[in-house]
Amino acid sequence: MRLKDKKAAVTGAARGIGRAIALKLAREGADVIVADINLEGVQKVAEEIKNMGRKAVDLKVDVSIKEEAEKIINTAKDELGRLDILVNNAGINRDAMLHKMSDEDWEKVLAVDLTGVFFCTRAAAKLMRDQGYGRIINISSASWMGNIGQANYSAAKAGVVGFSKTAARELARKGITVNVICPGFIDTEMTRAVPDKVRAKIMEKIPMGEVGKPEDVANAVAFLASDEARYITGAIIDVGGGMVL
Ligand SMILES: NC(=O)c1ccc[n+]([C@@H]2O[C@H](COP(=O)([O-])OP(=O)(O)OC[C@H]3O[C@@H](n4cnc5c(N)ncnc54)[C@H](O)[C@@H]3O)[C@@H](O)[C@H]2O)c1
Repeated sequence: MRLKDKKAAVTGAARGIGRAIALKLAREGADVIVADINLEGVQKVAEEIKNMGRKAVDLKVDVSIKEEAEKIINTAKDELGRLDILVNNAGINRDAMLHKMSDEDWEKVLAVDLTGVFFCTRAAAKLMRDQGYGRIINISSASWMGNIGQANYSAAKAGVVGFSKTAARELARKGITVNVICPGFIDTEMTRAVPDKVRAKIMEKIPMGEVGKPEDVANAVAFLASDEARYITGAIIDVGGGMVL
């Protein structure tokens, strides 16, 4: 119970890594706002959390729309009284080789994966500054260093790293830490869509030789959200079995 009575919000919490993070935070004692464009999904996750005896609020939001992203933070304040932990996990990919990448695929990925993080973090930073406490954890990707077919996704995820390191510096004296987790290849619906040939190539790049579980990422989030990580800010933690793309 490292997070007893902490108030958290997780974006993209309907499934995959976000769902595992929301459940882990609740298991550690937090009440959780579970936000996603998929309402049915977050309703189920909220039920699971309530069954653990914690509070949960499900929200249908698109993080790339400012007012909706801000609703997450406002709901935390109104319904839970404060926001101690924000996990920016919502993300999409629209892979294509650069010469075939459409404007729409570029803009959509940047809007969700980078601008969404900005909207949520800016709103949270205002509240957390007033509280004098906060833990912000942003989910980037091993692809931030560059990956064939992912110019849009890599740009957004590298943006998340630069953004987080800046926010970490700005908020360091306000009791707020900002850190980044870079998952490698984790077993979720996002990666189950990867063609077998590509999957085989990715597997060659994982020294541990196995695909990660959403819980592997959730465990790292729980640590960064806890007081044990009080002196860690602006850090990048790879959760990828040693994977280098
Ligand atoms: N799975 C991996 O191997 C892997 C690796 C590196 C990084 N990541 C990152 O981890 C995060 C979670 O990935 P996942 O594998 O669980 O993906 P996923 O597709 O299974 O889940 C993503 C969730 O985000 C939600 N979402 C999408 N757009 C949204 C929006 N505009 N507003 C709110 N919610 C939205 C989806 O509805 C879904 O529930 C993403 O940021 C992804 O880029 C995943």
